[in-house]
Amino acid sequence: MAKPAFTTHTGMVDILPGEVEKWQYVETIIRKTAKLFHFHEIRTPIMEQTELIARGVGQLTDIVSKEMFAFDRGDDHYVLRPEGTAPVARAFTEHHLEQRGGTQKLFYMGPMFRAERPQKGRQRQFHQFGAEILGSAHPLADAEIIAFMIYVYKEIGLLNFTLKLNSVGDPESRKKYKQVLQDYLRPNLSKLSKISQQRFETNPMRILDSKEEEDQPFIADAPVITDYLNEDCAEHYQQVKCYLDDLNIHYEEDPRLVRGLDYYTKTAFELVSPDLGSQDALGAGGRYDLLVEEIGGRKTPAVGFAAGIERLLIACEALNINLGTTPDVDVYIVTYGDNAREWALKHVEVIRNAGFSCTLDYAARSMKSQMKDADREGARFAIIVGEDELKSDKFTFRDMAESAEASLNFDDILERLNDKLD
Ligand code: HAM
Repeated sequence: MAKPAFTTHTGMVDILPGEVEKWQYVETIIRKTAKLFHFHEIRTPIMEQTELIARGVGQLTDIVSKEMFAFDRGDDHYVLRPEGTAPVARAFTEHHLEQRGGTQKLFYMGPMFRAERPQKGRQRQFHQFGAEILGSAHPLADAEIIAFMIYVYKEIGLLNFTLKLNSVGDPESRKKYKQVLQDYLRPNLSKLSKISQQRFETNPMRILDSKEEEDQPFIADAPVITDYLNEDCAEHYQQVKCYLDDLNIHYEEDPRLVRGLDYYTKTAFELVSPDLGSQDALGAGGRYDLLVEEIGGRKTPAVGFAAGIERLLIACEALNINLGTTPDVDVYIVTYGDNAREWALKHVEVIRNAGFSCTLDYAARSMKSQMKDADREGARFAIIVGEDELKSDKFTFRDMAESAEASLNFDDILERLNDKLD
């Protein structure tokens, strides 16, 4: 086939009928979970101020330094949001949501944008669902956030995952740890990968996240943050683990788990799946007690997660989990002649008002090709209308699966539909 003149941008994907039903199913489960956990939906704009993301996510992160879709218009700096947490924190601050009292429990889903090199499970426009609890420093909130995330996968029947857990401490614990880590790495600095050498001064903890071959031996024996947590962070981490045990949520501690966003404090976690290939994180998150203040709000402890919907679907496909298919149509009206088409147009409305899905041919095709179309659309019933039927006021009502036909007036057809489809 000839290459079309226009295609989507690299890493941006159309979601076509046949596929979209799976999305709708997953979205229903996410909404249902949010309702059960009593989280409220928040919708923020697709574009934010570039400075918000730079300050929130961190100037030196890959997301900000390499992957932003950003442009200027007049004096305004726009960025397509690469994630949802900084925008939610911005909305929380801008609308003084803390004044609504209590903790704010928010969830969202929608497209995010990162100019990454596309590969399986990594796109430039992708979709996240996520939840944030703002206004609680308590480890119960961390446990609830993790429970929310896992509930979605369990509802879908996706059980093949591992929860990796760590604490990345607070600035005080990290300051101490960074020193120790740098002292450990310094003698071998020249043997590290280029990117790790660059990170040595700016963000040495990110070296632990390196996938470069030459870094691995040094990472394996590196000192771990959990040995350098101050009392507050260590106690918090301990409590989170206790609560997860109470909830029977299994986790693996991974003291080398560091996140690619700068706002995390204390708890950090990732849900990884063996069914995803190299981009193995289904979802991830953690606590971010300093973010709201960092972007100009009041000091507000918070914790959250976000998960990729594309990756969830990839894992479901690998495990043959069926998420729904194109819905069939209840009734297809097959018409022959202009009068029949006019009759059909009026009666589709009656059928729809009675609660049944109904479609008809828009191309004045032959009866034979309309019957084929009815089959292709998965119609349960066909109503066949031609001049003879209009004259006698009786229409052929065909049960497509059973190939059984009856000649009925319209009221009787409605009654049959009620009997058979209710
Ligand atoms: P993140 O780890 O950058 O965290 O992204 C969360 C999830 O989004 C990933 O685990 C992955 O499933 C999906 N994801 C990320 N980038 C891509 C991509 N290019 N293509 C497809 N899927 C992708 C955050 O975004 C934080 N905001 C999470 C959070 C919420 N932390 C606290 N609250």
